[in-house]
Amino acid sequence: MKKLTTHWLMICTLLFTMTSCSRAEQPGIEKEEPSTEESDSLQGKKILIVYLSRTKNTKAVAEIIHKKVGGDLVALELVTPYPENYQQIVAQVSKENDQGYLPPLKTQIEEINQYDVVFLGFPTWGMQLPPPIKSFLNQYDLNGKTVVPFNTNAGYGIGSSFETVKKLCPESKILEGFSTKGGVERDGILYVMEGEKEKEVQAEVQNWLKKIGLVN
Ligand SMILES: Cc1cc2nc3c(=O)[nH]c(=O)nc-3n(C[C@H](O)[C@H](O)[C@H](O)COP(=O)(O)O)c2cc1C
Repeated sequence: MKKLTTHWLMICTLLFTMTSCSRAEQPGIEKEEPSTEESDSLQGKKILIVYLSRTKNTKAVAEIIHKKVGGDLVALELVTPYPENYQQIVAQVSKENDQGYLPPLKTQIEEINQYDVVFLGFPTWGMQLPPPIKSFLNQYDLNGKTVVPFNTNAGYGIGSSFETVKKLCPESKILEGFSTKGGVERDGILYVMEGEKEKEVQAEVQNWLKKIGLVN
């Protein structure tokens, strides 16, 4: 009986190791085949969708885009995560913006050169582009690529964020960005991308992608 249990344990350990190894080959990257909605302008193009999201609203928009255009979906994570506490993160971001501090990224993109189109998603933070996105644009050269910004915010808009994307990617083709109201963490409203709101955003994203010629 003891021998039988040991055998089972060995088989389970082996299976677990095999599955976790294959997952670890491409950490943090979710791949999706291009959907049939994709327009001719995306045919044969390699797409990266990279986003920053704290309360998952921007993540939800990123996933909607991913379903429509395919490509690689990557969440940006920091070496040192921001504080959970809202007042603390607001204070830290404000300081980082004032000092021009670029927080180091834990997420690393392998071979950024392989991508033709980079969707870049972020919340508005302090009416600006969040410091981690500034880090990303500082670290990776997007020259010659098409850059497509998208954003969620608490209702105060994009602030200077899209302008900053333009400034930090002077040699990229920047397409018209997308923005929608997300959570209002200050008031304890965190994730809102469900039910009617989710359907609304799906339709808004579809119209936007059509307008900028990326889906039919
Ligand atoms: C540090 C911080 C600063 C923020 N500053 C703004 C702001 O200036 N204007 C605004 O409309 N929303 C602001 N927000 C709210 C977020 O933009 C909004 O909740 C967004 O949907 C969050 O996206 P996420 O769920 O992907 O993290 C801020 C949130 C945080 C955490």
